[in-house]
Amino acid sequence: MAPEIRRSLVQHSSLRQDPHAVLRRVLDRVRPGTDPDAPTRELEQRIADLLGKPAALFFPTGTMAQQTALRVHAERTGRRTFAAHPRCHLAVWEEEGYSAVHGLRHKAVGDRHELITLDDLAEVREPLAALLLELPQRDLGGLLPTWDDLVAQTTWARDRGAAAHLDGARLWEAQTGYERPFAEIAGLFDTVYVSLYKGLEGVRGAVLAGDRETVDAASVWRHRLGGAIPDSWPAAVTALMGLDEVLPRMAEFRDHARAVAAAINADGYARTRPEVPQTPLFHIDIPASKDAVAAASKRILEETGVELPRRPGTSPDPTRCTIEVTIGVVSLDFTPQEVADLIRQLR
Ligand SMILES: Cc1ncc(COP(=O)(O)O)c(C=O)c1O
Repeated sequence: MAPEIRRSLVQHSSLRQDPHAVLRRVLDRVRPGTDPDAPTRELEQRIADLLGKPAALFFPTGTMAQQTALRVHAERTGRRTFAAHPRCHLAVWEEEGYSAVHGLRHKAVGDRHELITLDDLAEVREPLAALLLELPQRDLGGLLPTWDDLVAQTTWARDRGAAAHLDGARLWEAQTGYERPFAEIAGLFDTVYVSLYKGLEGVRGAVLAGDRETVDAASVWRHRLGGAIPDSWPAAVTALMGLDEVLPRMAEFRDHARAVAAAINADGYARTRPEVPQTPLFHIDIPASKDAVAAASKRILEETGVELPRRPGTSPDPTRCTIEVTIGVVSLDFTPQEVADLIRQLR
């Protein structure tokens, strides 16, 4: 039997792991006689308004939403190539769906261990359908380009007739690093995808926002791909709960992430990347092998019920491995020193 998880530094939310608790909360929110289409319509409108976009469309997954956005940009521009970081989600986690399903090409831009720069873009010699930027760049410990860089890079793309597309799976978290309104950040991009189940703690789903014409074209592709599900209200309701209850707390999560990182760095055994987290997400580089850290993490879970990341990744420093932490409702109850003490046991 799997050990019982009593506290977690891995899950954003304990709620999603507990279908009974989710259903009770949904029941509190959905009144008798509710039109089943209403929650999704309300969600799309609220996200369009928040991002300052004319239209927004629910998708069952971000994978489908982003491939669709790129497909629409490719058809509009008559170009098949999109530029993105070598470690973007489409390149690493989607089985080359952009190419297998849509015949698109990924032009990897920049260094694997660094954010894309304007100089990297200047080396791109081919016409692009889109430039895709991920905010924050998850695989780099949640790094964000400076605001000026972000403006320069999106302007670079648009000046060349390419669309600027935002992988905003964690835009909710990224906004705390810029401290600018969502609409100002989204305004730099033609299309924006946001996730409903990561920081927002909903039960799956994604939304793609943009101008009306692009979103209409995206809705045709959503249908073709089998994503036009009529009964999306359970996902929409939990996302609406997230917008009301979790989104206003993002800055609190970021502050706690900074306090936790400071305690880890002061302890000196491991070090965080970046040293001062820009968002509630950051990485911890640990001076031990992946196997040793995975085994220690398993032992801690069995002995104490505390869940730490169980599948460490490689680190840019070959003498270390990396784990990822995102501070959310669940992890707020760990004091910074408690986390530093736990990390010290990963050896
Ligand atoms: C940065 C990023 N983009 C896109 C996705 C895809 O989202 P989904 O799981 O809804 O397909 C993820 C999921 O982890 C992600 O982390």
